[in-house]
Parts: sequence; structure tokens; C-alpha cells
Amino acid sequence: MSFRAFPDPVVTPLRGGPAVRWGIVAPGEIAGDFTNALHTHTGQRVVAVGSRSAERAAAFAARHGIPRSHGSYDALFADPAVDIVYVSSPNSEHARLACAAIAAGKHVLVEKPMAASAAEAGTIAGAARAAGVFAMEAMWSAFLPQTSIVRTLLADGVFGRIAVVTADFGADFSGIPDAIVFRPELAGGVLRDIGIYPLWFSSFVLGAPQTVDAFGSMTPTGVDEQAAVVLGFAGGAQAVLHTTMVADTPTCATINGTDARLEVRRPFLMPSALSLYRAGDDDGVHWRDETGLAGRDGLAWQAVAVAQHIADGLTESPIHPLAETLSVLATLDEARRQLLTRAHS
Ligand SMILES: NC(=O)c1ccc[n+]([C@@H]2O[C@H](COP(=O)([O-])OP(=O)(O)OC[C@H]3O[C@@H](n4cnc5c(N)ncnc54)[C@H](OP(=O)(O)O)[C@@H]3O)[C@@H](O)[C@H]2O)c1
Repeated sequence: MSFRAFPDPVVTPLRGGPAVRWGIVAPGEIAGDFTNALHTHTGQRVVAVGSRSAERAAAFAARHGIPRSHGSYDALFADPAVDIVYVSSPNSEHARLACAAIAAGKHVLVEKPMAASAAEAGTIAGAARAAGVFAMEAMWSAFLPQTSIVRTLLADGVFGRIAVVTADFGADFSGIPDAIVFRPELAGGVLRDIGIYPLWFSSFVLGAPQTVDAFGSMTPTGVDEQAAVVLGFAGGAQAVLHTTMVADTPTCATINGTDARLEVRRPFLMPSALSLYRAGDDDGVHWRDETGLAGRDGLAWQAVAVAQHIADGLTESPIHPLAETLSVLATLDEARRQLLTRAHS
């Protein structure tokens, strides 16, 4: 294959496709960004919001032009105007709220991590399958144009034998001491909060690992603070992953094979840029996301894909299937277990 040009992205168009009626439970920071992205860049509409407080629900609805607001999550689940519930609560509440939405007959898109553990995520997946509704973890990076390009490169075997995948995501959270990431009772910890992105990238490229080795530190509050995770795969490939809540790190990802290597530029989990280097070629070819959707506006790609999946009668996404969610969370659980064990030994 020639590396002169990248393949075109394969994405669901932002406008003109089927629309579903979105309801939000837990209108916090990401819910606001999600709603802005949908309303600014797509034909999708948030039609209702539910909060533990009627005032917060009403204020969020007024801010975003949402017609209906509810002072309880149960009222949102019972709203017949809602097709799909976007669960954007703290991680500890994801499984309970997603299962309640499913029991009310709603489709669900659940913020990452889908739940506090693989076992809890499995409960959501089982409930959704039994009810015949759509369920997905909101791993939005999987739906970005750049990711669709990497998917094509992988399918075309451009890298030859992949030796190592690297990815990191580090951010200094010290300025927001109340954040979910610090709080064990909300299922915080850096692996669940941001480390899940490097773990997902490794899974996207190499699938489920055979071995997991994790090293790092815990906060005084008892959650994982920093982790280096080395994954081993059949055939000898490795993934070398890092996450920290202590300092900013490059937040890049790479795929390194016998025939080529790829760099996904900072921040690899958001709309960014790609560089591909054939073995022996230091100049490479380069691609940049020029769609105009920057940062969390990229949440729009995931939303239109979900709407299309539902219109197609799917109950999970072929782009980010439930099996991948469960596999990544199983790796995350094991990494956390090792950090905890080492901290107490
Ligand atoms: N995709 C991304 O890029 C991205 C970015 C950030 C966060 N996230 C994920 O999104 C989820 C929410 O994160 P966030 O940063 O938006 O959180 P946040 O700003 O703290 O908002 C969470 C909301 O959950 C509700 N809530 C329910 N039970 C709660 C409890 N026990 N304690 C505190 N709040 C509670 C609150 O709304 P009411 O009380 O009004 O109902 C609160 O506003 C997390 O799972 C996180 O991992 C994803």
C-alpha cells in the first residue's frame, strides 16, 4: 500500500441521518459539553433532563434550550418523550441508573467507564440484552474520524507485525480536590477516570491481553493515583500504557510494527492529528482533523453513530461493542487489584 495519502475517514454524517430523542440523567460538566456538541453540530436533540434537584434540572434545561426538566431520575426514566438515556453521573451510580433506564424500556449511552467494575458493566449488558434495547459505553474516541482512519490502516495490515503500542494520559488534578477522581465512594481513581483511554486504545489495536502487570501509587484517599500498565499479547506484542492524576503528560498514542509506525498526536483521545512513517522513512505522511470539531465537540460523532445504530435496529455498536467494554474493564480491574495489593504489601 502507498503511504502517500491516508484513507478517507468513515464516519456517520453529523446531519441528515436519523434523530433520536435524548434524555440526560445527572446534568454535570460532561452532560453540558455533550448537549452543546449535539445541539451545535448535529440534528440530535436533548428533549429532557433529570437531576436530583428540580432547580438544577430546570437551570440546565434553560441553559441548553431543553423543553422538559425533571426533579428526579425516575421521572426522567418514565418520560415517554425520551428514546435514549445518557447516563452522566459519577461512576459509582452508572450501573444502578443504566439498569433503571433499561427497566423503563430506554436505550442507554453510559459515560466511561461504563461501570465501576467489569462485573457491574456485565450486569448492564445482560439487562440490555434481555430487554432488547441498545446499550453502549460512551467511549467517544472510538467514533472520531481519525480513529476510523486507524481502523482502516489496521484492517489493511499496514503495520506488518505490531511489536508495541504505547499510550499515555496524564493530567494534574490538584486544582480540583473535590473531583470524582479523588473519591473512592464515587468509584474514582485515575485508571477509571482517564487511564481507561490508554487501555481502550490498546484494546482497539491489539484486543484483549494475555497478561497484565501494573505498577504505581495510591492517594491518601485510597484510590489509584498513577499507574504504569504493561500488557502482553499472543505473538509477543506488548502495550506500554501510563496514566497519572499528578502531572500533565504528552497524551499521545503510537502503534509500532515491522512495516510502519503511527503517532496519534496530543490529545489522542480527542480530534487531533496522525503521522505515519514507513520503516526507514523519517519524513512520514501527515493528517490533521480539519472538520472544525475540536475538543469535546467531538462527542457529536459518537451521538450520530448511536442514533444510526438504533435506527438500524442494533442493540450494540459494532464500533465499540459491549464485549470490548467488558474486556477493557477486566484489564482495568486487574490493574487496580495489583496496585492495591502492592500498596498493602
Ligand atoms: N467523555 C468525556 O470526555 C468525559 C469527561 C468528563 C467526565 N466523563 C465521565 O462523565 C461522568 C460524570 O463526570 P462529570 O465530570 O460530568 O461529573 P460532575 O460534573 O461531577 O457531574 C456529575 C453529576 O452527577 C450527579 N450526581 C448523582 N449522584 C451524585 C453523587 N453521589 N455525587 C455527586 N454528583 C452526583 C450530579 O447531578 P444532579 O445532582 O444534578 O443530579 C452531578 O452534577 C463520569 O463517569 C466521568 O468519568 C467523561
